[in-house]
Amino acid sequence: MNSYLDPTQIQFYQEHGYLHLPAYADHVDIDHLRQQAQNIMTQFEAEERTVFSTQAQRHTSDRYFLESGDQIRCFFEEDAFDAEGQIQVPLEKAINKIGHAMHDLLPEFQRFSYRSELLSIARTLGMQRPSIVQSQYICKQARIGGVVRAHTDSTFIYSEPLSCLGVWIALEKAHEQNGCLLVLPGSHRAYPLQERFVRNAETGTKFVETTAERVTWPEEKLIPIPAAKGDLILLHGSLVHASSANRSEHSRHAYVLHLIDLACHWPKDNWLQRRTQLPFQDMESVV
Ligand code: FE2
Repeated sequence: MNSYLDPTQIQFYQEHGYLHLPAYADHVDIDHLRQQAQNIMTQFEAEERTVFSTQAQRHTSDRYFLESGDQIRCFFEEDAFDAEGQIQVPLEKAINKIGHAMHDLLPEFQRFSYRSELLSIARTLGMQRPSIVQSQYICKQARIGGVVRAHTDSTFIYSEPLSCLGVWIALEKAHEQNGCLLVLPGSHRAYPLQERFVRNAETGTKFVETTAERVTWPEEKLIPIPAAKGDLILLHGSLVHASSANRSEHSRHAYVLHLIDLACHWPKDNWLQRRTQLPFQDMESVV
């Protein structure tokens, strides 16, 4: 199979830790995916008001979150609620994201996720047995979509050795006003992994520091990566990235996949786990 990436793109990715690939996804396919996501959000019953935020750990002891690795679940924006916990906006506008196994449970998402082009990309970047371990439909709602603080994806998607690859697909135009991706070029080569997000018997989950030297990321050097609908941005698992709050009148929907190499070890204390009836799939067997 010919590689989807040319040598210049591979070199850019290796040097900078990210790669912007315009026009990866078809607009009609995106519209189908968005409709499916809308259906999930419309049907969602607000029985379990779990807020997912990388800023707070309020959700961390929540089974709803911990069991979402092989489910389809909705998580709310923190700003959608007042101090008394009352919802302030229409329910579908209050949802921050849907996660984390749509790619293995819903045909529409499966088709969109398991593409030969993505398998080619993963192989080209050195994965022996690429596997999509999680999918997230991120809404970044107009006016209330929250900040995602600077982090590396390997903190949350950890394998030994590290193998995480982030795949970020713009489902509508993303720009600085509605909270596009911000990346710290070259940071994947500059800094060792600082912490892992793991399961914990008392608190549900927690961040644990690695034994690596503590560093302070120069967040003032984060640069915005505006994207058009259908663009794909690859993110190395060790790349420092973030996004600003969406204070605009426009949502910023994105679909995000995380891949690992099944040839690597997946620790049992990783927060993300699958039950035996739905193990991580070898991408090659699905594409
Ligand atoms: Fe991330």
